[in-house]
Amino acid sequence: MSSLRSLHSLLTAALLCLATLVAVPGPAHAAQPVTYDFESGTQGWAPRGDGVSVTASSELARSGTASLLVTGRSENWHGAAVAPGFAEGRTYAVTAFARAVAGESTIALTVQRTPDGGDTVYERVAAATVGDTGWVELSGRYTFTGASTDLQLYAESSDPAAAYRLDDVTITEEPGSGDGNGTSTDFETGTVQGWRARASATLAATPAAARQGGYGLAVSDRSASWDGPALDVLPVMAKGAKYTASVWVRPEEATSLGLSIERRSGDTPSYDQIAAPREVAAGQWTELKGTYTLGHDVDFLAVYVESASGTTPFAVDDFTLVHVPAVPIQRDIPALKDVLGFTIGTAVQRPQTLGEHGELLRRHFESVTPGNQLKWDATEPREGEFTFAEGDHLVDYAHANGLKVRGHTLAWHSQTPDWVFEGTKADVLRRLENHIRAVAGRYKGRLYAWDVVNEVVDENQPDGLRRSKWFQTTGLDYIRTAFRVAREVDPDAKLYINDYNTEFPRKRRALYELVKRLRTEGVPIDGVGHQLHVNIEQPHASEIEETIELIAGLGVDQQVTELDVSVYTDFVQSYPEIPAALLVKQGHRYKEIFDVFRRQSGHLNSVTLWGLADDDTWLSTFPITRLNTPLLFDDRLQAKPAYWGVADPARLEPLVHDVEVPEGTPKIDGRRDREWDLLPDVRLARNGDLSAGIQFRRSAKGLSVLAEVTDPARDGQDAVTVTVGGTDHVIRRTGPHAKGLRAHVGKTSGGYRVEALLPAGASGAGGVRLTVRDASSQDALVWAGEMTPVPAVRTTTAARGTPQIDGTVDAVWARAPEIRTATWVQGSAGATARVRTLWDAGRLHVLARVSDPRLSEESPDPWQQDSVEIFVDADNGKTKGYGDDDGQYRISFTGRRTVGGPLDPAAIEGNLTSAVRQVPGGYVVEATIGLPTAALGGDALLGFDVQVNDATGASRTAAATWSDPTGRAHLSTARWGVLGFAR
Ligand code: XIL
Repeated sequence: MSSLRSLHSLLTAALLCLATLVAVPGPAHAAQPVTYDFESGTQGWAPRGDGVSVTASSELARSGTASLLVTGRSENWHGAAVAPGFAEGRTYAVTAFARAVAGESTIALTVQRTPDGGDTVYERVAAATVGDTGWVELSGRYTFTGASTDLQLYAESSDPAAAYRLDDVTITEEPGSGDGNGTSTDFETGTVQGWRARASATLAATPAAARQGGYGLAVSDRSASWDGPALDVLPVMAKGAKYTASVWVRPEEATSLGLSIERRSGDTPSYDQIAAPREVAAGQWTELKGTYTLGHDVDFLAVYVESASGTTPFAVDDFTLVHVPAVPIQRDIPALKDVLGFTIGTAVQRPQTLGEHGELLRRHFESVTPGNQLKWDATEPREGEFTFAEGDHLVDYAHANGLKVRGHTLAWHSQTPDWVFEGTKADVLRRLENHIRAVAGRYKGRLYAWDVVNEVVDENQPDGLRRSKWFQTTGLDYIRTAFRVAREVDPDAKLYINDYNTEFPRKRRALYELVKRLRTEGVPIDGVGHQLHVNIEQPHASEIEETIELIAGLGVDQQVTELDVSVYTDFVQSYPEIPAALLVKQGHRYKEIFDVFRRQSGHLNSVTLWGLADDDTWLSTFPITRLNTPLLFDDRLQAKPAYWGVADPARLEPLVHDVEVPEGTPKIDGRRDREWDLLPDVRLARNGDLSAGIQFRRSAKGLSVLAEVTDPARDGQDAVTVTVGGTDHVIRRTGPHAKGLRAHVGKTSGGYRVEALLPAGASGAGGVRLTVRDASSQDALVWAGEMTPVPAVRTTTAARGTPQIDGTVDAVWARAPEIRTATWVQGSAGATARVRTLWDAGRLHVLARVSDPRLSEESPDPWQQDSVEIFVDADNGKTKGYGDDDGQYRISFTGRRTVGGPLDPAAIEGNLTSAVRQVPGGYVVEATIGLPTAALGGDALLGFDVQVNDATGASRTAAATWSDPTGRAHLSTARWGVLGFAR
């Protein structure tokens, strides 16, 4: 069959012949099979090749009285051809019966077509060895991708001169094919059900690989991490439609397995992850699951299982690909762009422009940011080789639909190829200039803003500048060059410096200083972009407001560029399903954030969300793979509470805050005692100029309430009402207070302070409500909480002194009070420590004398080894989750150090020095923690805790802390104790 593919000149002849073919109504959209039985002539079949003749002959027939006789052939590819009515994206079962006039040859059915803009291709459909003594069935499947001309289905023979007959050619569209309805394979037929190897892997349906039922797919002999089983899904997926894919996998050795998809348009392959690789234990069945929306026109589409590395064999079973029908978007809710006083935008990629997603996008948004398509790795993957297809597509789409475009981003440390940073400073700057000339030049006049540089600030560096490869090779010059060239190339685009965590006080300050410095130099920075990737708890909305107000002082434009609200406060937790109450809370969080935007709309010209709806968010894989729902619309594109928090907060269900009420007896005298300073005030969302911070303590005498109210205009009717146990207690700013109510009001700089003791709340449990009324403005703050009693806040004091960190207990330690770890978070007995703390300039020293007679570091997990953990929060924020200055410092009994806490623990690693000495019955840890960002001494307070991990063999069997009883000290600083300073 070697020469079935023939020479170009001969083909031209064949194509000419084809012009004479008559197209008969094909099976296109009908599920009805089309049969050619040749009972009424050739039925559209025509000769293929010079000298060939095709006739309906009644000499012989497989059924009826006639068949198609093909004679006069002189080339393999000579034969009979018909124009099949194949429809795009559909799959057909093709069968035919053939019989040679004399001798034996291979007869094949082949499709010839010319893809738009490409070369003619020949695709084998079916073949069989055919003799002259009987009819032989040829049968196969064919998927027509569309986007082609000169389509023909033809019969040919390996014997160039052989005459043969055809009869009963049937073309049947496969049920479900091309309707994009998905598919499933369970291997229960004992066959591979269409799966094939991507390279040289061996696939076999075997009982040993079954997860359930009789068979699964065994995958072995893999040649690379990407070599494994693939399934063609082109016929079962439709562009713009969404699918959930799921497959079960079981590796022989522990590895990371993921489910991916390869798509090709023409010859260019692209790879998307459906389920990012995740760790799978040896011999364990694990589900890989994700959703995928096909955003492109493709002519090849296959799902496949791959590993992050290695070639361990694995078993696969129960693959399903299920179409998630699109729900129409809501058309009876306000369009966001109609209710906001600034430009509202969203990040988009192709799927967001299609179908219902596109409807949602165009209905609510005025601006788009291509999420990845203008980044360096997308636009200049190899030096001087620019790829703009994806960027062009999105920019063209935006323009065609009246959407403004933000460009993102010209210089970043991430998603930038390594070659960019090779060579000298001059090389690097030349590449940067080149890149910006090409990319910003291409879109000149079409993007209204550019994130010229992204994420260049690091507040933990003395100069506030991120130590990126850009910075390491060029210092600040890459920023200068980037802005200069961008301005030159596209003078009408507004040029932004863009960053995350700009709402953190120290980062905000570092950014402010940098922009100020560069603008003074004349660097053309027009604006500051605040990414604003925030979470359900942190940071407080007032921090966002403070940042906007600070930056406004620079006289630059400001935009929020990447807003989303993660439902998690740490990077460990994962909900199988997001609780409804959390979504309501998220709605209120969006409300308080948009309240800030509305108030600050004089300083803010645009807000962009980092995604259109929860079905596609970067937070589903960052910082770990988990379900996250950070946006305004859910995964069915329907409005969430988050949307209402933005569009119409009155529609939100009221929020009840969870509040922990420690034991404590502050003096009720209108003054703020130290007891209140132990915890940060719960800040109520601001309303106009009115704001407040509140706290509670409980004791046998009742519930102590603190309200610090900011309300500059004193008015006799200003009041705080506390409702507890069903009774309203009104405390007027100017008094007098109701008889029998223990309350005091003190004056503060911007307002007043209320302290009250309410006997009804003694349990510290149940509902509580606060209303703060500002009589002059008629504004009010309303806050409702559900109280949980907790023990008193633990406190300790660091004495002033400098020990030698060598594992020997110097006399200086005797100055400090001793605390003990006696709060069991695992087990109820085991290793404990006696702990003292000292401080000197910028440093906290910790001594932990651990009694633990049996020591082990057998476990590879550091927290399962005998060890001491020290928790330090420089600003005693008591936050759910860790801020970037919060740290968990762990020292094992052999002196091994590990740190954790913030997303980037490397940033705090350098803070820790330590020495350990093993002693009879245990070990002694001495540690110094440098706190470069904290002011120690005086009235300062640190969040502080100590935990002792007790290992038995290879696992931890007990753990005790000084303060935090939750077992979550590594995830949240909220329940740590408090450390103050002695002179
Ligand atoms: C993210 C994209 O959304 C992801 O698709 C991609 O895999 C990684 O980058 N800050 C930024 C954005 O400035 O460019 C990032 O976008 C999210 C964090």
